[in-house]
Amino acid sequence: MQRHKSKNQWFLSHPELSSIVNESWFNADYWAEQGRLLGTYAGRGSVWMIKSAEGKWVLKHYYRGGLYAKISRDKYFWTGFNQTRAVREFRLLTHMYDQGLPCPKPVAVQVKKSGLFYTNDLITEYIRHQTTFAKKLNQNDNEIQLWAQVGTVIGRFHAAGIYHADLNVHNLLINNNDIYLIDFDKGDIKNNHTKWPQANLARLKRSIEKETQQSCDQQLKNHWQALIDSHQSALKQNLNDSSL
Ligand SMILES: Nc1ncnc2c1ncn2[C@@H]1O[C@H](COP(=O)(O)OP(=O)(O)O)[C@@H](O)[C@H]1O
Ligand SMILES: [Mg+2]
Repeated sequence: MQRHKSKNQWFLSHPELSSIVNESWFNADYWAEQGRLLGTYAGRGSVWMIKSAEGKWVLKHYYRGGLYAKISRDKYFWTGFNQTRAVREFRLLTHMYDQGLPCPKPVAVQVKKSGLFYTNDLITEYIRHQTTFAKKLNQNDNEIQLWAQVGTVIGRFHAAGIYHADLNVHNLLINNNDIYLIDFDKGDIKNNHTKWPQANLARLKRSIEKETQQSCDQQLKNHWQALIDSHQSALKQNLNDSSL
């Protein structure tokens, strides 16, 4: 990881990219002008897919949700470089990716400070995927096996102490038989396994119910149980492995 500072602007990147990381990488128009913009994700309109010379990337500009969004869309209150959203997500991704967890590989970060506030962006490698857990649920493509796999993946992250602040069905990407977790904004590393894994699962449960308009305690009971069971065994298994 490298850090460059020029005036009120910082970059963080993988060491092999530190000599080439620059401002234009974080500007969607720059990629569009070269015909290298592959797509934009709907939602808050803040995510772009790019075909860079080093491979496919995803550029995310951090935007506020909720009430503050009306006041300032993308400005956050500065409390130090290490506290910025993008730097925290970059470091968390590095930590997870290095231990082989299925998450995006971090590429680079830009932080720009202006007065008391900052804006920030994150680039990660694009994860090839055909579908998402959300789409599978919508298509009623609802094999119990898939739910069990989702439970296993989440259990692995939890065993590593990884708290996901927004564990919803859109943040689970599916590539053939592999499942990836994305969107670690406001995520954290915890060093105990008390209540937070259950809070993550409760968030996912609400998201599944919203997406399917069905209840995990009724129509989807067996599916949900399969997810919970494999989450539990993955958590145990991986905790045992790491204490060997
Ligand atoms: N590394 C990635 N590889 C492939 N697609 C991604 C990646 N990161 C984000 N996306 C796509 O962009 C969407 C939005 O990104 P996300 O990080 O979840 O931001 P948001 O905060 O807007 O939910 C995701 O739902 C996914 O479709
Ligand atoms: Mg998301």
